[in-house]
Amino acid sequence: MTEEIVKSALSKVLYPGFTKDIVTFGFVNNIVISGSDVSFIVEITSSAPEVAQQIKDDAMSELKSVGAGNVTCTVKAPLIPRESSSRGKNIAPQVKNFLMVSSGKGGVGKSTTSVNIAIALAAQGKKVGLLDADIYGPNIPRMMGIADIKPEVNGNKVLPIKAYGIEVMSMGSLMEPGQSLIWRGAMIMKAIEQFLRDILWSELDVLVIDMPPGTGDAQLTLAQSVPVTAGLTVTTPQGVSLDDSRRSLDMFRKLNIPIAGIIENMSGFIAPDTGVEYDIFGKGTTQPMADEFETKIIAEIPIEPSIRVGGDDGKPITFVSPSSETAKRYMKAAESIWATIEDINAKGGVDNQAVQPTTPPGVSACSTSSAPKSKHEHGSGACSTSAAPKPKHEHGSDGCGCH
Ligand SMILES: Nc1ncnc2c1ncn2[C@@H]1O[C@H](COP(=O)(O)OP(=O)(O)OP(=O)(O)O)[C@@H](O)[C@H]1O
Ligand SMILES: [Mg+2]
Repeated sequence: MTEEIVKSALSKVLYPGFTKDIVTFGFVNNIVISGSDVSFIVEITSSAPEVAQQIKDDAMSELKSVGAGNVTCTVKAPLIPRESSSRGKNIAPQVKNFLMVSSGKGGVGKSTTSVNIAIALAAQGKKVGLLDADIYGPNIPRMMGIADIKPEVNGNKVLPIKAYGIEVMSMGSLMEPGQSLIWRGAMIMKAIEQFLRDILWSELDVLVIDMPPGTGDAQLTLAQSVPVTAGLTVTTPQGVSLDDSRRSLDMFRKLNIPIAGIIENMSGFIAPDTGVEYDIFGKGTTQPMADEFETKIIAEIPIEPSIRVGGDDGKPITFVSPSSETAKRYMKAAESIWATIEDINAKGGVDNQAVQPTTPPGVSACSTSSAPKSKHEHGSGACSTSAAPKPKHEHGSDGCGCH
């Protein structure tokens, strides 16, 4: 074996996504030959693990085809940037970035989106957490297939549950199944704070946060407790959903949260038998709203039975069918979100100083009234349980008074 043969074999290995090979790019160094054994280093510029793997596989097969014995290919990739440049109050400082998933309207697919985006980000090599901040209707445990698992408690701290390679926590994992909670304003704030402070999240690149619908105390408390790096709005294409989504986008603006984009969910239906696409809720309706808020639609997700089944059975489509068209769209959306997060950090990050409360604890910072609202029960701290039917997504006047 000679260096010429090795170089000529490696010059058949294209850098993934390019038409140039790794030798021409100048990425190959330190070629050492001992008999028929070969070792070398490839220094690349991408931190994506799949790029490194592809190079290793291709190099191995090209060298074997010219008679190499043992081949040792070391790929040196830059570390995935884990830093955040955000400032202000952060009660979960081990988490570098926070992604708030919101919608104005209930039932449009926030939880489904949160689960699939979290899994897509993890598949792209990020260390991901998923926080179900929908304390009214926690659906994440079922969607992540962990409905029967109770978290481990360590003193007064709780360990997140691990599923599909990500860390998960939900009010649903802390309550008995079917139990209902009546939430009052101050309790909502306390619950959100505890989710951030008392859950033993690891050093995470990003915490994806599935919010309750609307623009209320949960959203405001989150923005005041941690610097939210970016917000993602989920909408469906019908007019009434868009009206509510505008409120969600406007809330991001008021809370100084950069917008990572809009996911248009239930965007058309592709009949599984014929492949014919039906436009059920209207199409092209979301773009003007994206333009209005200077953002973009980062995915159009069709209505698909397997998404609903995956949600009900705890088998998210991005994990169980990664080659499906829908999973690919979630993957692309996750890439776009991460690019936005990196861009935000490169430009100095976010700062939540301006949204800190100036009013007494328990009163929304932008409430128009200075007196505590009767709905806010101060100092109770606990959640009252009730056998009465749970008021689904009751927000009432609890919310931030500026909407
Ligand atoms: N693209 C889709 N195709 C088929 N079913 C979907 C799709 N998106 C969501 N669903 C289903 O619609 C229902 C509502 O979705 P999901 O729970 O994600 O909405 P949500 O906005 O989080 O609701 P809520 O406001 O109650 O928290 C779920 O049963 C989910 O599986
Ligand atoms: Mg939900």
